[in-house]
Amino acid sequence: MAVEIESFVRMIPKAELHLHLEGAIAAPTVVELARKHGVTLPIVREVSELYDFPNLGAFLKVYDLISQSVRDAADFHRITYEALGRSASCGARYVEFFFSPQAHLEFGVAYSTMLEGILAGMRDAERDHRILSRLIPAHNRELGPAKGEEFLDMVLADRPDEVIGIGLDYNELPYPPDPYAAMYARARAAGLRVTAHAGENGPAENVRTAIGSLGCRRIDHGYHVVDDPALMALCREDGIFFTCCPTTTLFTTPWRDLTASDHAIRRMGEFGLAITINTDDPGMFRTDLAAEYLHVAGMGFGRDELGEFALNGLRAAWLDDVTKSAVLADWSAQIALAAGP
Ligand code: HPA
Ligand code: ZN
Repeated sequence: MAVEIESFVRMIPKAELHLHLEGAIAAPTVVELARKHGVTLPIVREVSELYDFPNLGAFLKVYDLISQSVRDAADFHRITYEALGRSASCGARYVEFFFSPQAHLEFGVAYSTMLEGILAGMRDAERDHRILSRLIPAHNRELGPAKGEEFLDMVLADRPDEVIGIGLDYNELPYPPDPYAAMYARARAAGLRVTAHAGENGPAENVRTAIGSLGCRRIDHGYHVVDDPALMALCREDGIFFTCCPTTTLFTTPWRDLTASDHAIRRMGEFGLAITINTDDPGMFRTDLAAEYLHVAGMGFGRDELGEFALNGLRAAWLDDVTKSAVLADWSAQIALAAGP
C-alpha cells in the first residue's frame, strides 16, 4: 500500500537549492543572538508581528535586521548547523545555500570570519546529519554593479572548494539584472557557477535578461515567466531550471493563494518547466522543505510529479556530472519505491 502523501514527501531524497542562511534562522535563535550582541529588535507584542511582510521591501528590512545579530564565527557555525539540520530532518540530502556577505561586512564582520563559521557548520552537519552542502555568496543588487565587482573580488580572493557560485538577490523590481552582465561574465570566466533572483517581483523580461545577458541556466523564483508564453516555451526547450518557493509567493508576489488554479508555480509545472521546490527563508516564513512540497501537492501535482521535481533539484545542482548521474540513479530508485506500485 502506498504511504500517505506527507510520509512520501518526507521520505523521498531531496535537494534544496534556494535557501538563504540568514532567512533560515529560527525565531528563538534570532532572539538569543540579538541579546548576545546587544542588537535591539523592534518591540512587538508577539513575535509573529516581526514576521508579517506585505511585500519584498518590508521583508528585506527584517532580513537585514536579523543579519545584524550574526557577528562571530560561532554565530555563523550555529545558524548553518541549525539550518542544515532542519533541512535534513525533512529529507534533504544536498543543499546549496546563499548567504549575504554585505549584510555583515557593514557591521565590521570579516568575510573570512563568515566563511570560517559557515564551513565548520557545514562539516558538522554532514557528520551528524549526513547532509552534503555547498555555498553561494549572493550580491545585494541594491548596492549596484560597482559594489558587485568588489564583491566578486572578495569572493575570488578567498575561495574554498565549497564556494561554487554566486547569486543576485534583494529587491529586483527597482534593480533589474542587466547592469550585472560584466560581473557575471567575469565570475563565469573564473569558473564560478551563476544564478540570479529574477521574475519574483520583477517582470518576465528580467528572466530573459538573467538567461541571455547574465548566462544563468538556473533562475531563482522566475514566476513572472508565466506572463510571457514565448519565453516560457524557450525555457522549456532549453531546460532552464527554476528554484520555486511556494510560501515566498504569499509575501512577495501577486500570487497569494497557493491553491488557485492560476498560481504561477502550478502553471510553470503544468507547462513542463523544470521546477524545483525550495524554502527560500524558512525561519522568517516559518516553513520547512516538507511543508513546501505539500503546498505543491495541494496544487494538484501527484507523487510522480513531486518525485520529478525532487530529481530536478539534483539535475539543477552544481555537482559534477559523474557524481550527479550516480546519485540520480540511486534517488530515482528510492522515489519509485516510495511511490509504490
Ligand atoms: N528575494 C530577494 N532577496 C531575498 C529573498 C528573496 O526572496 N530572500 C532573501 N533575500
Ligand atoms: Zn531567495
